[in-house]
Amino acid sequence: MGENSKSSGLRKGLTNYGDEGFSLFLRKAFIKGAGYTDDALSRPIVAIANTGSAYNPCHGNAPQLVEAIKRGVMLAGGLPVEFPTISIAESFSHPTSMYLRNLMSMDTEEMIRAQPMDAVVLIGGCDKTVPAQLMGAAAANVPAIQLVTGAMLTGSHRGERVGACTDCRRFWASFRGDQIDAAEIDAVNNQLVATVGTCSVMGTASTMACIAEALGIMLPGGASPPAVSADRIRIAERTGAQAVAMIGANLTPARILTPKAIENALRVLLAIGGSTNGIIHLTAIAGRLGIKIDLAALDRFARETPVLVDLKPSGQHYMEDLHRAGGLNTVMREMKALLHLDALTVTGRTLGEELDAAPPGFAQDVVRPCSKPIFPQGGIAVLQGNLAPGGAIIKQSAANPSLMEHEGRAVVFENAEDLARRIDDPDLDVEAHDVLVLKQIGPVGAPGMPEAGYIPIPRKLGRFGVKDMVRISDGRMSGTASGTVVLHVTPEAAIGGPLAIVRTGDRIRLSVAKRSIELLVNGEEIAARLAALPPREVDPEERGYRKLFLTTITQADEGCDFDFLKAVRTVATVPGDGT
Ligand code: FES
Repeated sequence: MGENSKSSGLRKGLTNYGDEGFSLFLRKAFIKGAGYTDDALSRPIVAIANTGSAYNPCHGNAPQLVEAIKRGVMLAGGLPVEFPTISIAESFSHPTSMYLRNLMSMDTEEMIRAQPMDAVVLIGGCDKTVPAQLMGAAAANVPAIQLVTGAMLTGSHRGERVGACTDCRRFWASFRGDQIDAAEIDAVNNQLVATVGTCSVMGTASTMACIAEALGIMLPGGASPPAVSADRIRIAERTGAQAVAMIGANLTPARILTPKAIENALRVLLAIGGSTNGIIHLTAIAGRLGIKIDLAALDRFARETPVLVDLKPSGQHYMEDLHRAGGLNTVMREMKALLHLDALTVTGRTLGEELDAAPPGFAQDVVRPCSKPIFPQGGIAVLQGNLAPGGAIIKQSAANPSLMEHEGRAVVFENAEDLARRIDDPDLDVEAHDVLVLKQIGPVGAPGMPEAGYIPIPRKLGRFGVKDMVRISDGRMSGTASGTVVLHVTPEAAIGGPLAIVRTGDRIRLSVAKRSIELLVNGEEIAARLAALPPREVDPEERGYRKLFLTTITQADEGCDFDFLKAVRTVATVPGDGT
């Protein structure tokens, strides 16, 4: 392979000393200090964004993946160069992982821009890492390919198969309701996460892995192999080799992440019963490319797209079962009629060509045919109404059918601290048919839009077997959770959305059939209460990243991206008409 051109390899993006020749001379001198030969340095460079971290067990297999990616790059004639970025683990991030997603996307974007690379392999996995990497890579627009760490294997508790984190929540709810004791909750704590890797259900990590494959920015078959499987290592090696091939073909994110690809990803999100967080993340990724996701139009998609994948929390199985059932190929083959098959993928072939080339289907019980879906409509419904003028969502596939048409009295918690203080108070005035409302957990409110929308059932009701209630907030919910939970109420309470004026005793009506969420208070009273809200001000004592966050974060319908990171102008809106 010959010497690189000025816009490739080591010559790319020279440090500015006012003398390009000297800049390259100096760069080579330093990297030769690490023992590289001129032959190695003349190769196309495939960078590897390594998000391994001792604080991130979901990425615990990153060293093995890096080794396999490097092998693939070198077999294809490239030079692999690994670099670190921020790594975000869901349960090790204060105040929330969402608070840090945009910071990771900025780190990823700027390190791709700053360092010489002809292509980049992104190792994501835990919930916010894949969206952060795709947001950054989309903006940097260097050929990029996504790899994920893969899902963990399931464990076993007293003969019952368990996995994070749907079962984490189920066992915790049983403990709160006094159905299991402290010894048992300690015992199950050892079994819920049986290996390294991402959560074993269709939570946000699995959803984003499937979305990446549906977008065409990951190798076909790359979403489902478990973290500790040989298939996962093989995908890593092939990903490295494919990154080299992408350089010659100039397969940039802008060519792959098109409106058609975004629509495919939305369809797949609905068909897998994916996490509600996936909508926010996909909106943010698309926003970096000037593509706007229209929530109202998304609801039309949702009505047309059945849930086919029988995975927790909407169904029964775990990610390793989806892999044994043929992975996302099985799903996309089944829903082929709903996809844009001409969308380009990282292989240089179209999605349709890849599906045709995939191994044939076989009998399995994890992915249902369209004629026998888990749920006849898409898992997520978009709600509108005077309580959420900018929209709200509900994961109807994981909700209680008997509560989807419901009117009840609001029991209001002003913020997360108020909730923590009173939810288990034996004197709390609450009954099973009331509607729990939690304010101030939106993008600005908490801040960082915590996954606190899954409001716990008050202990006094849990003890009597109440397992679900209508719950409403401006926050998010883990993809591993279930229940009749209305989320992402927009605009949020902290910026003066109508949620801020709900009082205990008001009546609220939820109709999933009508896609509506209404505060049953007359218009004059609503206007008077809104007018009485104090003006929103950012504390002048704020500084640093928190100040940046509070002053530039957008609402859920814009992906909670920072306003200055979005593309300057909108070039397309999806879903488009009649697709
Ligand atoms: Fe990392 Fe669930 S906590 S994927």
